[in-house]
Amino acid sequence: MDPVRNPFAPGAGSQPPELAGRDVIVSDAEITIQRILRGRYSQSQILLGLRGVGKTVLLNKIEIIAESHSHTTSFIEAPENRSFPELIYPKAHQAIRQLSMVENARSKAYSALGALRAFASAFKIKVGDVSIAVEPRTGIADSGNLEFDLVDLFLSIGETAQAAGRAWTLLVDEMQYLSGQDLAALIVAIHRVNQRNLPVLFFGAGLPQVAALSGDAKSYAERLFKYPAIGPLPPDAASNAIRQPIEDEGESISQRALVEIVQRTQGYPYFLQEWGFQAWNLASSSPISEPDIAKASEEALRRLDNGFFKVRFDRLTPKERDYVIAIAGLGKGPYRSADVAQALGENVQSLGPRRAQIIRKGMIYSPAHGDIAFTVPLFEEYLKRHLKLPGKA
Ligand SMILES: Nc1ncnc2c1ncn2[C@@H]1O[C@H](COP(=O)(O)OP(=O)(O)OP(=O)(O)O)[C@@H](O)[C@H]1O
Ligand SMILES: [Mg+2]
Repeated sequence: MDPVRNPFAPGAGSQPPELAGRDVIVSDAEITIQRILRGRYSQSQILLGLRGVGKTVLLNKIEIIAESHSHTTSFIEAPENRSFPELIYPKAHQAIRQLSMVENARSKAYSALGALRAFASAFKIKVGDVSIAVEPRTGIADSGNLEFDLVDLFLSIGETAQAAGRAWTLLVDEMQYLSGQDLAALIVAIHRVNQRNLPVLFFGAGLPQVAALSGDAKSYAERLFKYPAIGPLPPDAASNAIRQPIEDEGESISQRALVEIVQRTQGYPYFLQEWGFQAWNLASSSPISEPDIAKASEEALRRLDNGFFKVRFDRLTPKERDYVIAIAGLGKGPYRSADVAQALGENVQSLGPRRAQIIRKGMIYSPAHGDIAFTVPLFEEYLKRHLKLPGKA
């Protein structure tokens, strides 16, 4: 069918034509966003889920909702190996500048800029284009200890937002890449603004290991945040994610074709977009039927294997690859670390550092003590398609 009208959107963070099955999460976020403006108890959240389940899409949606309720927002994606002070600096600057437009918030904004300037020099941030004309404040955000200084900075921004009659929402994606130190400081800062009842809200997203990383950083993180699990879509929502966009374009798809897509993708949002996209392009006319899905599956898998799966596999060293290949040889997860060790003919302790490094790269995580699982859905099947696994002829 006409590729120009193809509604599907397979891509990192790309807005799906139908945000299926996330109503509860979205409305819950919206309630929190409204409550904080009224000074009510509002719990910050960290969305947790595997690769491609729609965490970034949800964070974007939450940011738009926050803006619609007159929050000032700052969105940060944590890349590997960048420090949080460096990432927060330009965003904090922008947020304070925005809040300073409100007459009542001018003087607080001025102090906050002073705190930010002190913060920048304490952490030797290269300010580049984003330099601040205000004098740095002394004794605020300038100790060089991130846990203290980030608290000062967040308190300053919170007070500015309060004076403006607004709220500040900070959103951080890919939280698993924050260092332990940065994560700890972030948690403390959110905790402090919470205790002071300031209008600051935090929405994070990351791989499932973020829950444990946060708990390790600060034991009270578990009570501070809500951790909504973002999983694959249940069959009804998954069907909807495919059917609705097709019908919105005035076309149709057979029930059996839908069932086939849901089954092939197991309801994983990224896969749904990929299958929908291919099915639309490969079908010659409506209704999209089962034989169209057979062709679409081949093309979708080819694209995933050369993209989504491959880029992740390529980031591993040869030794790390041996490790994940050994995992895939064990069948369906989760897997016991001890079994992986056995498959490799080594002991669990000596494999510890390798396992830890693969976790840091975001390829695997530990759902329970001694267990491991892939963060990329259906990754073991990818490996099976492409590699000679141990024990396989
Ligand atoms: N609720 C949904 N219904 C249908 N499609 C969705 C839904 N949520 C996300 N998608 C689609 O899934 C794909 C992946 O979304 P997104 O990039 O937000 O995932 P992610 O969880 O952030 O992945 P990663 O961990 O790799 O960053 C996108 O193509 C998006 O359009
Ligand atoms: Mg993402």
